Amino acid sequence: MSQDNKQQVDYAQVDMFISGAYILAVDDFSSIRRIIVNTFRSREAYVDEASNGAMALDKMRMALENHSPYDLVFVDVEMPVMDGIEFLRHLRTDKDLGETPVVVLSSHSDSEEIRECISLKISDYIIKPPTRERLYQAMAKAMSDRDQVRAAKGLTVGKDAAPREKGAAEKDYSKVIFKKLETIERLPALPVVLERIKALTHDPNSNSERIAMIMKDEPSLMANVFKLANSVLYGARDPIDSLQGAITRLGLNAVNNMATSMAVLAVMNQKMEGFDHKAYCKHCISTGIAMCVLYDHCREKLRETYTRDLLHLAGLLHDIGKIIIIQFFHKEFLDAVEFGKKQAIPLFVAEQKTLGVDHSEVGAWLGRKWNLSTMQMASIRYHHSPLMTDTGHDDLVMLCHCANYICNLEKIGDGGDTMTPMFDQRVFDKIGLRQGDIPGILERVRNEARKSEIMMSFLS
Ligand SMILES: [Fe+2]
Ligand SMILES: [Fe+2]
Repeated sequence: MSQDNKQQVDYAQVDMFISGAYILAVDDFSSIRRIIVNTFRSREAYVDEASNGAMALDKMRMALENHSPYDLVFVDVEMPVMDGIEFLRHLRTDKDLGETPVVVLSSHSDSEEIRECISLKISDYIIKPPTRERLYQAMAKAMSDRDQVRAAKGLTVGKDAAPREKGAAEKDYSKVIFKKLETIERLPALPVVLERIKALTHDPNSNSERIAMIMKDEPSLMANVFKLANSVLYGARDPIDSLQGAITRLGLNAVNNMATSMAVLAVMNQKMEGFDHKAYCKHCISTGIAMCVLYDHCREKLRETYTRDLLHLAGLLHDIGKIIIIQFFHKEFLDAVEFGKKQAIPLFVAEQKTLGVDHSEVGAWLGRKWNLSTMQMASIRYHHSPLMTDTGHDDLVMLCHCANYICNLEKIGDGGDTMTPMFDQRVFDKIGLRQGDIPGILERVRNEARKSEIMMSFLS
């Protein structure tokens, strides 16, 4: 049980456990409860609070009676009324709640205290104040331990391990949507070859020859990546005459991002009633181009380094959730658009009010299904709430937020938005963008957006 685990967090894996989980945060300090609440709510968990052990036990019993038991409890040690150790003693002797996973938070690393907690079957022990990463690691460990124990007993594992009341889940419409999506068999899929390319980009022994061999299994994808690599979009000066040469010159990550872009574009290129898919594709392609313009303009203020292929892909992906909502919740989407227009509110707010969930959340759900990397996912999930991001790619998310604003302002393509989105001045300040810069930026985006024709030419 490590106090200071600095291991990288696998957000894709952590999200599988967090999304839709029921968590109880028990601490007499509201500031600590707030950290836990904000950390998990931002990743779609339900978090309740209690300020001592006795209150926590009451809440846990009530939740069980309502058929919505908690998946995990974070508990402080020193608290008034009933402290964490006493809480654990009561909990472990409760015949219904005794198996609930618990993570202990404490201000000191007293080995006697840790030993006592371990004897009371805790999943993990965190020294306060907790970091987001440490909380995510503790959650992932607790849930995976629980699933292993349950699997050994032949019981249900995963999100449905805690039996929920049917009606309770259906009170939250967003849960209904995700539940329905889970049952849809013909979800848009990315080509299998992408998984193999991705695996090779992470393999230190891979080389351009092996990647080129794999890409030959998907000739149309290969041809388009080759064409893209040679296009003015990537500033190609000397033509590249072989796929292997392209891979060598561009690098494995760039080829992976380009192949993903081509595959995503194919998914986006679908005719749907009441929706101009070509204008939508143009909006997404242009958002990627605007991200490149902004990246060059704000370079000095940015802390992170991004390649053009990643910026193009991030723009292309940012509104991918709309494809899913339109395809599988068509009437609801049209209702949200109408509602947004009537109320003069942005589409994502209208979606939240009418569907209970917006396209950034649905897009993130799809991104997880597609095994996209955290970096590729960041702009999908947070382009409308850039200051909420905890992905470690703040600059990327802020660039996408501003690029989306600019493309909507200039009406380059049409993402189906119901009004010109408002920009967040704090984001402008953070990336060093001033209002006075906007006309010059717009001019560059207008010129550069002509390059979107290259990507549009892939949509036949
Ligand atoms: Fe959006
Ligand atoms: Fe957008």
